[in-house]
Amino acid sequence: MPKLTIENVGSFEVPKGLKLLNALVEHGGNPRYSCDGKAKCCDCRVEFIDGEPKKMTKAERAKLKDKDALGKYRLSCQCLIKKDMHVRVLKSNTKSKKKKKHADLLEKIKPKPLWVKMKKKK
Ligand code: FES
Repeated sequence: MPKLTIENVGSFEVPKGLKLLNALVEHGGNPRYSCDGKAKCCDCRVEFIDGEPKKMTKAERAKLKDKDALGKYRLSCQCLIKKDMHVRVLKSNTKSKKKKKHADLLEKIKPKPLWVKMKKKK
């Protein structure tokens, strides 16, 4: 199983193919996710310290391009864990009622993912 390290939280073994947002919610990363994982709010943003996926969904790419954030951060609701990752959560959830929102609501990537390769960072 891949190892997920969440900065200032800890390291955890997680099932391969799990959505990163789900793993962050499950293991105390406390990410914000206002649009419930639909690539609309950018609140679930993370910085990859290591293990950034080489592919992203078209929805993520469009949103990051729109925000002029391509290459700056990734949307955890659009990333699947396929290998070891080390991330920093950039926006924490401050509302306790959403803190406990069920990861099962977020199980699948929405909208249905169309994967594209990322351009290399300069
Ligand atoms: S939860 Fe809104 S973009 Fe990921």
